[in-house]
Formats: sequence, C-alpha cells, structure tokens
Amino acid sequence: MKKIALTLFAAMISLSFASSPSYAGDAGAGMKYAKKKCAMCHDMGSKIKKKGKIGPSLAGGIVDKKAGQVAGFKYSKGMKEAAEGGLVWSEENLDKFLKKPKKFIKKTKMSFAGVKKSGDRADLIAFLKEI
Ligand code: HEC
Repeated sequence: MKKIALTLFAAMISLSFASSPSYAGDAGAGMKYAKKKCAMCHDMGSKIKKKGKIGPSLAGGIVDKKAGQVAGFKYSKGMKEAAEGGLVWSEENLDKFLKKPKKFIKKTKMSFAGVKKSGDRADLIAFLKEI
C-alpha cells in the first residue's frame, strides 16, 4: 500500500511539472538583460539606475498585477482593452507578452520585437518578481 501511494505521489509530481510551464529563472541574469533591453523605456525599480519614461513604470512590481494600471501613463487602445478584459500579468501572460508583444496584444505601443529565448524570458520574470 505504501509503495502504491509513493508511486502515485511521484506520478503526480511529474505530471504537475509536465502540465504547468516552469519559469525557474535566474533573477541576476534577468537584471542584466533588463538593464540592456528594458530600462531605456521602463523604470525597473531601485536595482537599475537607468529609468526610461517611454513605457509605464514597472517599479514596485508587475507580476500578478492587473495590466494597464500605472496612473498618468497613456496606454495604447490595445492595452486599455486588454486591461478592461481583466488581463493580469501572471508569469504565463508575461512570458507570452515578452515573447512577442504585438502578437499577444495586437495594438500595443510597446515597440519591442520580443525576447526570443524562453530562458531569457524566465530570467526576466524572476527579476520582475523581485522589483
Ligand atoms: C521601446 C520602449 C520599450 C522597451 C524597449 C520595452 N518596453 Fe515594455 N512597454 C513600453 C510601452 C510604451 C508600454 C505600454 C504599452 C501599451 O500601452 O500598449 C509597455 C508596457 C509594458 C508592460 C505592461 C505594463 C502595464 O502597466 O500593464 C510590461 C510588463 C512591459 N512593458 C515589460 C517590458 C520588459 C520586461 C521589457 C524588456 C524585455 C520591455 N517592456 C521593453 C515600452 C517599452
């Protein structure tokens, strides 16, 4: 009986890994990436000096927050519609947005081609969780 329970438990663990994407990134590497590719447009919090103003401030964190909520920032129509539709920046949604912003939100004004490598996106998301 004990053995069966253990086998079941192991199966459940491997299933849960298989079904939900894993974003176990390296926040330090994510910070370096953000310095190079995001900070010219975004305030990324106190760990990065450069604070771009073209995009909304991400300081104070964005993971698991509602989209389009930075007061005073003029979001695109596309981002406003997504926000009204209830978009939340879960890790999964961030991963999709950062991969190809214009594919995830057609009319976004974030002029950024995307982060191609899933590993780079995972690192970025790990960093975004710490700001
Ligand atoms: C060329 C400037 C630019 C670059 C580079 C850029 N962004 Fe943006 N970003 C924007 C703009 C502008 C918006 C607002 C989009 C809209 O209103 O459609 C935005 C929106 C966002 C949002 C949604 C914020 C919210 O309030 O809902 C996130 C998250 C985000 N960017 C993350 C990133 C990350 C991470 C990077 C680096 C990989 C990055 N951006 C690179 C300009 C940029």
